[in-house]
Amino acid sequence: MTLYGVGLGPGEADLLTLHGREVLRAADVVYSPGRLSRSVALEHVPEEKIGDLDFPMTRDPDELRSAWKEAAEVVAPEAREGEVAFVTLGDPNVYSTFGHLRRTLSAFHPDVEVEVVPGVSAVTAFATALGVEIEAGSELTLREAAGGKAPIGPERMLLFKVTDAPATGEKLADAGYDVTFGRRLFMRQGETVVTDDPDALADRDYYTLAYAEKRDSKRDATGLFE
Ligand SMILES: C[S@@+](CC[C@H](N)C(=O)[O-])C[C@H]1O[C@@H](n2cnc3c(N)ncnc32)[C@H](O)[C@@H]1O
Repeated sequence: MTLYGVGLGPGEADLLTLHGREVLRAADVVYSPGRLSRSVALEHVPEEKIGDLDFPMTRDPDELRSAWKEAAEVVAPEAREGEVAFVTLGDPNVYSTFGHLRRTLSAFHPDVEVEVVPGVSAVTAFATALGVEIEAGSELTLREAAGGKAPIGPERMLLFKVTDAPATGEKLADAGYDVTFGRRLFMRQGETVVTDDPDALADRDYYTLAYAEKRDSKRDATGLFE
């Protein structure tokens, strides 16, 4: 039997893939690492199916390791006997908590079968939500910008964890980038915002990203109209 890492997509229930929905429906138990992923999972499975795992709000690596070890102790026997799903927002292989569980299982319970069901990631969904086209041939770099950080260098960047949009926005503008921010894209929970004004997103919301493009990089990648 199997543990499935299921990508839920960005948050709207109907952006879960058909395969993901089948796996959730067939699962004996569905675990979720947070409130938001739980509420999306609940759009597809009854509450009785949702399992209970404790995830401490900490960055301490020892505490995290022991929490994931405990979670793996619970999940491993269930996945040997039946079908278990662990859901994450977006895709389970992109900046996701599922990676911790997969690594812990492979270290301590290597006989457990693991399969990943991909989901619509914010890495791609942002382009539609922000009305951006990443043309064939262009570069796109994924980075983090928590706490007002502003990585610079690449032509085009997608920044996750933008928790201080005004500070990140100002630094990027000074470094020569045009920036568009997106909050709670394709999510039913909370308000979706797309804006070029970082001050409109001054309050902290973890589900905020930014797309930054160097001002001088605007070009027609096809070369058709140059
Ligand atoms: C830990 S990463 C998880 C990424 C996820 N596994 C995926 O594939 O989309 C969380 C970050 O992704 C971004 N993010 C994820 N979903 C989002 C959404 N629906 N709207 C805006 N940002 C989102 C935010 O920047 C957030 O801080």
